[in-house]
Amino acid sequence: MSFYEFLGFKKEPFSNSPDPGFFYNLKEHRLVLNKLEIAIRQKRGLMVIIGDIGLGKTTITRKLLQNFDGENDYLFYPMLNPSFSTEFQFLEMLIKMFKISRIRRSTIEYRQAVQDFLFKTGVEEKKTVVLIIDEGQKLSEDILEILRVFLNYETNEYKLLQLVILAQMEILPKIKKMRNLSDRICFQHLLTPITLDETRELILFRLHEAGLENGSALFTEEAIKKIYFSSKGYLRRIIFLAHNSLEKIIMEESHLVDEAVVDAVVKDLSF
Ligand SMILES: Nc1ncnc2c1ncn2[C@@H]1O[C@H](COP(=O)(O)OP(=O)(O)OP(=O)(O)O)[C@@H](O)[C@H]1O
Ligand SMILES: [Mg+2]
Repeated sequence: MSFYEFLGFKKEPFSNSPDPGFFYNLKEHRLVLNKLEIAIRQKRGLMVIIGDIGLGKTTITRKLLQNFDGENDYLFYPMLNPSFSTEFQFLEMLIKMFKISRIRRSTIEYRQAVQDFLFKTGVEEKKTVVLIIDEGQKLSEDILEILRVFLNYETNEYKLLQLVILAQMEILPKIKKMRNLSDRICFQHLLTPITLDETRELILFRLHEAGLENGSALFTEEAIKKIYFSSKGYLRRIIFLAHNSLEKIIMEESHLVDEAVVDAVVKDLSF
């Protein structure tokens, strides 16, 4: 019997692996996903989602991809870590992702090859190319400038590249400085921490999805409040505190997460 079965779970409720089955439809995440989906379908170009550490940016990208599952006219290219030291490296990565055959080798030739690819795919094949860049705060100004140029490629009706950038706050000054880039943003959103009610809903939802019928018998209201106030509504922190609280009671062979358990977990973490 695994530790989790001891408490009546079928799987681990607060694992930090991004299981889409654990995605809870938070109001703000739903709004962002809807807006992104509409902007992509209308081929409006540049979308930017900004949010502090652990507010759900990467999770949103996973869900977005899932919402387009099976739609072969949409080609998604997720880029998870855009730290490149040169323009050439970045272009080389794009060439590889777009599966463009590499007969040419200079920065100028690579740029031309990407442009050709966008026209061929977007106009001749009538497909929508969506580049999703996570950890966008790592993008240098030079690379943002290349992306800006790619965003210029358009027909009379639509843009040939759809670009979704998800980033921590550090990207803001860079974008503000580049007026000609910020002017092109068709949808921008700043994520905020969740509320106490949402924290409770999220915890109970995850407990339920992991196979527990009555989650509120496992986490007391005081424990949930404590998790909320210690996490300040930051999702990763909520998941982490809930996870550590469960581990603690499993070790102690107890069946209840109350305020004292969360308190002890928070104290452990501050060392
Ligand atoms: N809508 C949601 N429903 C359930 N869990 C969520 C949701 N959004 C985020 N989470 C959980 O919160 C944690 C943090 O989410 P995520 O990694 O997506 O944040 P992030 O904004 O990408 O963080 P970072 O800035 O560090 O990259 C993950 O464990 C994820 O499973
Ligand atoms: Mg992330």
